[in-house]
Amino acid sequence: MDGSEHEAANARAWTDYGQHHLRRGTEVPDVDRVTWGFWPTGPGAEVLGDLSGRRVLDLGSGLGKVAAHLVREHQAVVDAVETSPTQHERAVARYSNLPGLNLIHADAVEHLPNAEPYDAIYSVHGFAYINPHRLLPALRNALKPGGRLAFSVLHTNSDGRGPSPSVAARPEVLPLAGGAPLTVHMWVLSPTLWEDLLVDNSLLVDAVDVLDAPDEGNPVSVRLFRAHRRI
Ligand SMILES: C[S@@+](CC[C@H](N)C(=O)[O-])C[C@H]1O[C@@H](n2cnc3c(N)ncnc32)[C@H](O)[C@@H]1O
Repeated sequence: MDGSEHEAANARAWTDYGQHHLRRGTEVPDVDRVTWGFWPTGPGAEVLGDLSGRRVLDLGSGLGKVAAHLVREHQAVVDAVETSPTQHERAVARYSNLPGLNLIHADAVEHLPNAEPYDAIYSVHGFAYINPHRLLPALRNALKPGGRLAFSVLHTNSDGRGPSPSVAARPEVLPLAGGAPLTVHMWVLSPTLWEDLLVDNSLLVDAVDVLDAPDEGNPVSVRLFRAHRRI
C-alpha cells in the first residue's frame, strides 16, 4: 500500500466507525474543554490564542464537539472539515443549527486550497491519518502569515510501541465499542520528524507538549504541537 491507499483505507475505516455508531445511536456528550490527549488534563483552548471572531479550521473534526465548544465558549467562527460521510452525518445531526459553525464534508487537503486563509488551524487526532507530505503544503497556504497551528498526534500506542523513525504509515488498531476493532494506518512519527516536516513547510514550532496517560501502567502517550506560519 502507498500513502494514498493508506488514506483511502482510513476513510473507509472511519466511515464504518461512524456507521456503527449511527446504527447504535451512540450518545456522545458535549465537551466543556479542548482535550488534546485522550484525558481531560493538560493545555486547552488557550494554545490557539484569542479566538473571538477569528476564522478557525478544525481538521478531521469527527462529531464536531470541539468545534462547537470553540464557537459557543470562545466566540470563534469555525469551519469543521470531515472526510467520513457517516462521521459528518453525526455532526450534522447535532450541530447543524449552531451559528458560527460550518460543517463541511470533504477531504481536508482538497478543502484547504478553496478556503479563505484561516487565523488558526487545529486538529485533535486528525493529522496522523493523512500523509504529511500531502497535508502540510496545502495547510501552510491556507494559514494566514503568523497564523497559529496546533495538533495532537499519537506518540506511543497501548502496546508501548513508540514513534516510527521514518515518514511512513503503519497499522494501528481502532477500537469499536460493541464491535470488532478496525485497522487504520497512521503516521506515528517522532517529534523530530514532525518538526522537520513542519519547518520544511514554513511552519515554525513554538512548543511540543508531552501528554501521558494519567493511569499508572498505561503507556499511551500523545504529543501536542504548537506552531505558527512564518510571516
Ligand atoms: C480520531 S478522529 C478525531 C475526531 C475529532 N477531531 C475528535 O477529536 O473528536 C479522526 C477523524 O479524522 C477524520 N479524517 C481522517 N482523514 C481525513 C481527511 N483527509 N480529511 C478530513 N478528515 C479526515 C476521520 O474521518 C476521523 O473522523
